[in-house]
Amino acid sequence: MKNEYIPKPARIISVKEEVDGQRAIKTFRTQFLEPDGFSYRCGQCAMLSVFGKGESMISISSAPHITDYLQFSVLKTGRVTTALHDLEKDDVIGIRGPYGNGFPVEDWKGKNLVFVGGGIGLAPLWSIVHTAIENKDEYGDVMLIYGARSSNDIVYKDELDGLKKKMTIHLSVDNEEPDWKEFVGFVPQNVMDKKPSPENAIAITCGPPVMIKFTIQSLNELGFNDDQIYTTVENKMKCGIGKCGRCNIGEHYVCKHGPVYSWEKLKTMPQEY
Ligand SMILES: Cc1cc2nc3c(=O)[nH]c(=O)nc-3n(C[C@H](O)[C@H](O)[C@H](O)COP(=O)(O)OP(=O)(O)OC[C@H]3O[C@@H](n4cnc5c(N)ncnc54)[C@H](O)[C@@H]3O)c2cc1C
Ligand code: FES
Repeated sequence: MKNEYIPKPARIISVKEEVDGQRAIKTFRTQFLEPDGFSYRCGQCAMLSVFGKGESMISISSAPHITDYLQFSVLKTGRVTTALHDLEKDDVIGIRGPYGNGFPVEDWKGKNLVFVGGGIGLAPLWSIVHTAIENKDEYGDVMLIYGARSSNDIVYKDELDGLKKKMTIHLSVDNEEPDWKEFVGFVPQNVMDKKPSPENAIAITCGPPVMIKFTIQSLNELGFNDDQIYTTVENKMKCGIGKCGRCNIGEHYVCKHGPVYSWEKLKTMPQEY
């Protein structure tokens, strides 16, 4: 019988330092040692293991149409993520998954997409941002409102510059900086400033819980209904496959039924996230 807990070995083919300092973020591209047709949906995650250290659930930040690598962006927070940050190109990690429900991208075809992200919260959105750009004919306008504490904390900087030609991007930092020409303030304030239209639109928000809370308020104020707003829940996880009960919200296993929820659904669930 197949043991679902056994990870598949994958080689790190590149490591990119996105953010340095205390809240360091690195982006890892990986390839399985034995190609096995691993396929996934936008918004799904995988359990990454550093052998001898442990496992962490991380969003897959590459888009499903990219088949030659799997990408993960990792904020250094504790034991496993620090061990991941210590790894280099050609080191081998374990990957099991994909896990979770992912974004209902098929239902969103023909709609305008408004992405609202904060900090490392851009990572789970990145796969669908790229999918929407790649399949531009299938979606309406694509807008990204993204903020970080400071310009140093912005992820995917080079790619964001390139994508400005293909979609509307509004950036922000929390406090004034000498060379910063875009919005200064918190992400939900930038949402109110840029006023994305709720007309035929879906808003997808991901970031720190406090940002998500106030972003949803801003979106509601602008006229977005609860069923037009989607977010992701990052409860702590252990098994990732709906067996251990670590990630529960009431009877819901976030690892299995989530991590993506419409706000219409999430607001009816116990506030255990
Ligand atoms: C569905 C999902 C998707 C995720 N996607 C990403 C991603 O793309 N990139 C990324 O960097 N991180 C992501 N995370 C968070 C990541 O799993 C944790 O930061 C990581 O497991 C911490 O492990 P650690 O051993 O380094 O830290 P630990 O030593 O276990 O903990 C260090 C600190 O982080 C806190 N912590 C641990 N897990 C979580 C969590 N899930 N949420 C909030 N605080 C936590 C602990 O309470 C402790 O304060 C995701 C989590 C989930 C559930
Ligand atoms: S992480 Fe074990 S049930 Fe979800």
